[in-house]
Amino acid sequence: MSHDHEQFHTRLESHDDIAINPSSNPSLADILNPSRRNVLKGGLSVAILGFFGGISACSKASASPLLNFKGVPVQLDPHFDRVVVAEGYRAVPFFSWGDPVEAGAPAWSPDASDDWQAQLKQAGDNHDGMDFFAFEGETDRGLLVMNHEYINPYLHPSSTIDQSKPRPLDEVRKEQAAHGVSVIEVKKGADGQWVRVLDSAYNRRISMLTPMRLAGPLAGHALMQTVSDPKGLEVLGTLNNCATGVTPWGTFLTCEENWPNYFINRDQADFAQRVSHKRYGLASSGTSKNYAWESADPRFDATPDASQPHGGHVNEPNRFGWVVEIDPFDPKAQPIKRTAFGRFSRECAALSLGDDGKMAFYSGDDAKGEYIYKFVPSGKHDASNPKASRDLLDSGTLYAAKLNADGNGQWLALVHGENGLTAENGFASQAEVLVNARAAADKAGATPMDRPEWAAVHPRTREVYVTLTNNDGRGSKQPLDKANPRAQNLHGHILRFNEQGANPTATAFTWDLFLLAGEAQGTKGKDGKPVPANLTGTINGDILSSPDGLAFDEAGRLWIQTDYDDVEPAMQNMGCNQLLCADPSTREVRRFLVGPRGCEITGLAWSPDGKAMWANIQHPGISFPASDGKTRPRSTTLLITRVDGGVIGA
Ligand code: FEO
Ligand code: CA
Ligand code: CA
Ligand code: CA
Repeated sequence: MSHDHEQFHTRLESHDDIAINPSSNPSLADILNPSRRNVLKGGLSVAILGFFGGISACSKASASPLLNFKGVPVQLDPHFDRVVVAEGYRAVPFFSWGDPVEAGAPAWSPDASDDWQAQLKQAGDNHDGMDFFAFEGETDRGLLVMNHEYINPYLHPSSTIDQSKPRPLDEVRKEQAAHGVSVIEVKKGADGQWVRVLDSAYNRRISMLTPMRLAGPLAGHALMQTVSDPKGLEVLGTLNNCATGVTPWGTFLTCEENWPNYFINRDQADFAQRVSHKRYGLASSGTSKNYAWESADPRFDATPDASQPHGGHVNEPNRFGWVVEIDPFDPKAQPIKRTAFGRFSRECAALSLGDDGKMAFYSGDDAKGEYIYKFVPSGKHDASNPKASRDLLDSGTLYAAKLNADGNGQWLALVHGENGLTAENGFASQAEVLVNARAAADKAGATPMDRPEWAAVHPRTREVYVTLTNNDGRGSKQPLDKANPRAQNLHGHILRFNEQGANPTATAFTWDLFLLAGEAQGTKGKDGKPVPANLTGTINGDILSSPDGLAFDEAGRLWIQTDYDDVEPAMQNMGCNQLLCADPSTREVRRFLVGPRGCEITGLAWSPDGKAMWANIQHPGISFPASDGKTRPRSTTLLITRVDGGVIGA
């Protein structure tokens, strides 16, 4: 089948920035964003290329003992369709959308086929958070496990998704199959390069069509019961899997982020009073925000239906927004939705493990004015008996962060009967608190943040770093405060938390601003005037915008990944999205890699020896990794190594 490759640039946004008020969400016309196609054809190239006065190309060698590579320049080419990594390094495509995963999977052939059964066994789309799990006692073999957050129209031979008509069920099934998680076995080959083990019994796809068990306080609860699952114990699938976590007992945590976009409740009166729908911004008219699956698959229509048991599918949205635990080493094991974590648009679940085996998992809720959370399991991990930890995630305390102007902060317990979470305030039980965690955090008095994305915990100090990616509503929809100090914060910032006594379970902490992202001081705009103060950063080193992915390596280098729309005028100096590295002590930041035009860089994992790094190129805009300008683009995991075989960054 022939096709117009320009169509491939079209993608659906992931709606990371859904505001509390659904009326401010983008229209379908915005989502399909035809202007992006023009830009990628070069329509704005002059504007982009003509706006880079004042940028230093890249940083030079510096005093930081941690950053031992030469920085790469920003990439301003509007047609850029490759990856550039620091001198002395190599970055190669390793695992792309459509690559075979499970036994019997056919090769990728998206022009010829819209076969959802094939997609079910192939790599999903929009690779996101990712972790490496070594086989016990081995350093040269492991499982790479990654999320597939959402899908792009070029999933289909037609490269289109038409939400104005009832969706064909086969297309919907393929989209559902392309969501979820991939588990792939990888090993170091004889030549020292990492390769996939294509026939591994561990290779596995988990998708929107994989049954999973509900566990924790909501398992079997009336709020989880639907006409399809009257017991409220088993959910079909996971979706919008964004960032991740790992447990001390070696399981993978995948986090369900923008699930509200997949549901609709058309009963206006019901919607207005149903906190579990309204506070999360479900659609209430037209179609659901993502893909209109409800037109082919009734469980995504959450309009209450009194003629059906349990109101039909009105509770189906309650079954998403959780942390899902997956044991990558047991391909037969059902994934488990752990409801004690609470329900919101969860970005990640970053582990901090104390000396005593007690732990915390830190999470952002990525929407404008939402909160930072942590979950502290009641029990402790005993490394000598890891099997005993298997159900530790089913009881514990969910907290939301309150950041005070003086640099102190408190973790507010979201516990029924505490902090105003009482029946008279609308929280009849702990189950209601967990399902409506956003409303509970509102009531408790948590601090509204500028779109919290990833958290990362320093491997020795246990300092917690959190990306606040951006918030154009700060100063209008949310008031300015010390922790969110810029009006119309288009470039975002990174905060640092220190728990009292470096104890993950502490309820008091101090915080400081690690950096404000944005333009270098003194940068001039096209008009020759200094760029506005709210767009100027405090970065010691290479500029970046919209920090999102965040991870520490073993040596304590902080790796920062960006996610901004690289054709927006405010991003013209930033160029293509980037992977950078920071020294937490000196705060120096150096750009390590730039991606192809249109992509986001996200997900980061290392081999045990630190000599291989994997990073994800999500939704490249032109034709990466083919980079021939004709082939439809594919989200792709990169394998990054040093030419001399050394440790990355060292
Ligand atoms: Fe899926 Fe907030 O990024
Ligand atoms: Ca994304
Ligand atoms: Ca993200
Ligand atoms: Ca983002």
